[in-house]
Amino acid sequence: MKVLVTGGLGFIGSHTVVALLESNYDVVVVDNLYNSKIVVKDRIKEITNKEFKTVICDVQDETKMEEIFKEEKIDAIIHFAGYKAVGESVSKPLEYYDNNLNSTITLLKLMKKYNVNNFVFSSSATVYGEPTRVPMFESDPVVEATSPYGETKVMIERILKDIAKVNKDFNVALLRYFNPIGAHKSGLLGEDPNGIPNNLLPYIAKVATGQLKEVNVFGNDYDTVDGTGVRDYIHVVDLAKGHVLALKKLESKPGLVIYNLGTGKGTSVLEMIAAYEKACGHKIPYVIKPRRPGDIASSYANCDKAKNELGFVCDYSVIDACRDGYHFQVEENKRNQK
Ligand code: UD1
Repeated sequence: MKVLVTGGLGFIGSHTVVALLESNYDVVVVDNLYNSKIVVKDRIKEITNKEFKTVICDVQDETKMEEIFKEEKIDAIIHFAGYKAVGESVSKPLEYYDNNLNSTITLLKLMKKYNVNNFVFSSSATVYGEPTRVPMFESDPVVEATSPYGETKVMIERILKDIAKVNKDFNVALLRYFNPIGAHKSGLLGEDPNGIPNNLLPYIAKVATGQLKEVNVFGNDYDTVDGTGVRDYIHVVDLAKGHVLALKKLESKPGLVIYNLGTGKGTSVLEMIAAYEKACGHKIPYVIKPRRPGDIASSYANCDKAKNELGFVCDYSVIDACRDGYHFQVEENKRNQK
């Protein structure tokens, strides 16, 4: 089975390509290197000892994308490519709607033309907006998102649902990720955002390696275990495995399916800092700051559906994820210094 992976050199994409190759899928990667590095291609080959084709191109470039559909007999697509910075999406809404919606529509038009009927979409827990309850279930309402980034996920889910309604041959998995963290145990793949990270774990990693002074903890007066925000942090290697399981599910021609991919367990910011301290073996300084606008108190998944229908269970704990994330950051810093 040949799988086209858009954004296959990015954080979640690269780990998923490893999981696919290890499960003996043929893989074609498309990536425009907007938020990824070409060297990731060689690192995936080093880890898996397997070959795969990589095309450097923008998914919105319909002519180039059509060449791939003509040359390769694609059976399924996993679509990661997209802009994902929440804060940036608020200041650049047009760029976000343009890129995320048009790239998906380009793919869907080509899928129709070339009769490709299996699609896995990289969605997010952000589609639940301000949750009415935790844990969140797939049947919970999808609401107006709190950012243009989130809104693109809501809109693309809607487009895919509408297509699945009329095209009975179309099989699509909407995978709603909670908070992906960690890195490949080799230290070769991980997340190293440019500039000051927005997300908690990349920020802690830079404090742990001395690149930033202290972690800013955004609020300690939420109604949670210790007053700090609670999230469902999932190791990226577990998340990658979820994609392989979703692809297998599509082989049974289920039409549209929706799965939360998380651990089902919430961890607070302070608990996360403590886990990281255990993983890296030294203290992580932090200061309490005001709440970050737009943040919610708690978000974690109910994962029974993925467990029952896909056999999805997580192999790794948050401490494993901190250990692997730290290892990657240390190795990446060494490589960057060379
Ligand atoms: C954010 C996005 C979400 C996206 C996800 C990707 C928002 C509102 N949501 O989720 O749509 O899918 O990233 O992983 O941005 N925190 C600190 N200090 C920091 C950074 C974060 O205390 O320097 C806290 C936050 O207040 C929150 C928790 O850590 O309680 C997690 O934050 P973050 O990693 O940014 O993820 P989310 O906000 O859950």
